[in-house]
Amino acid sequence: RRRLLATAGATGLVLGAAGGAVGYAAAPAGATPLTSLGADRAMFHGKHQPGITEGLQARGHLVAFDLAAGASRKEAAALLRRWSTTAQRLMAGEAAAQDDTDVARDAGPSSLTITFGFGNSFFSRTGLEKQRPASLDPLPDFSSDQLDKARSNGDLWVQIGADDALVAFHALRTIQKDAGSAAKVRWQMNGFNRTPGATAHPMTARNLMGQLDGTRNPKPTESDFDKRIFVPASGSADPAWMANGSYAVVRRIRMLLDDWEKLSTGAQENVVGRRKSNGAPLSGGGETTAMDLEKTDAKGALVVPINAHARIARPDQNGGAAMLRRPFSYHDGIAADGTPDAGLLFVCWQADPLRGFVTVQRKLDRGDALSTYIRHEASGLFAVPGGAAEGEYVGQRLLE
Ligand code: HEM
Repeated sequence: RRRLLATAGATGLVLGAAGGAVGYAAAPAGATPLTSLGADRAMFHGKHQPGITEGLQARGHLVAFDLAAGASRKEAAALLRRWSTTAQRLMAGEAAAQDDTDVARDAGPSSLTITFGFGNSFFSRTGLEKQRPASLDPLPDFSSDQLDKARSNGDLWVQIGADDALVAFHALRTIQKDAGSAAKVRWQMNGFNRTPGATAHPMTARNLMGQLDGTRNPKPTESDFDKRIFVPASGSADPAWMANGSYAVVRRIRMLLDDWEKLSTGAQENVVGRRKSNGAPLSGGGETTAMDLEKTDAKGALVVPINAHARIARPDQNGGAAMLRRPFSYHDGIAADGTPDAGLLFVCWQADPLRGFVTVQRKLDRGDALSTYIRHEASGLFAVPGGAAEGEYVGQRLLE
């Protein structure tokens, strides 16, 4: 009854399992088979954890946990084992191991990914200080930060993404129940992206400012991709348990949409340095045309303004600093002042956060044109170990 179909995703191989999700009752005879969207499946086991190089999913939940007082390395290891079992089952479209809530019944895995990380505070709580990577040193303060500490950092972090809202919620609820008495939720955020298939052909995603966002992301086909995004298996200053892992920087960035939307399209384009319609650099061409940083207009002014976001954030302006941006948009309703509580759950991945996020954010913090229209409201930095091999749980190399 199980049909496997391989679809080449934007950045990796996704396997689809259709014809009745294993673990739930088989679909009744004559039932409509799952569409490819429901059947699409990412793999739990592998060199890297899922949820890093896969294409953006339509729904996302970010959740951080703190270990319960008195919970030790032993409880943490048991929790990561439970979470890994859940991730493996749910990503295959199976029911949870215990007391499944039926919320995802009838749907396939819908490209579900579940990704686990450790925050700085995890290591002192579990007596593992010697294993704490130097890259987990707290991020520096930036002058424009307006961070809510209660919604920042945490001992453990879980990123959930799926192309179906019920599948994503089901995973979130199961992960939370698995925590039991070992850990409690510290903060939780909900995000979304455009649903795959909504555009006539695959396109770079748009954010809530209406810009194409992700154009210049490093691509897995580039020769330096792995070096930029993943900790090497050997020869780095990172502890051995981080081999093939990555560091995730999470920023909840509020967009001041009432102010932004008052700008003309031309003014908005000057803020970023790219056209809204197709993401092309203001210096000309299409989305993938190289930006001409020197080009001037008839009056001698730079065509891509000196403070344009996409000029300042470029690796060649930051000693090569690069990161893989894999965000979700968010909308949490209307704030007390009547403005939309909406923006970007900015998640970026890199082998070294000091060389990636920190270098670029220091530069943007000096005042890129976008800074006027955004506000960083929460922050997290997490060490995301490599993927689990068959029979292993995520983080086993740290916790055993
Ligand atoms: C590029 C939007 C925050 C780093 C871009 C682009 C847009 C954009 C529209 C041009 C298209 C592209 O290449 O993706 C935003 C918005 C933000 C935000 C709306 C906040 C709400 C940040 C932050 C960082 C960052 C916090 C890192 C500290 C980058 C980088 C590029 C970029 C590295 C690519 C530059 C290049 O290589 O050409 N961003 N961005 N962005 N952004 Fe942001």
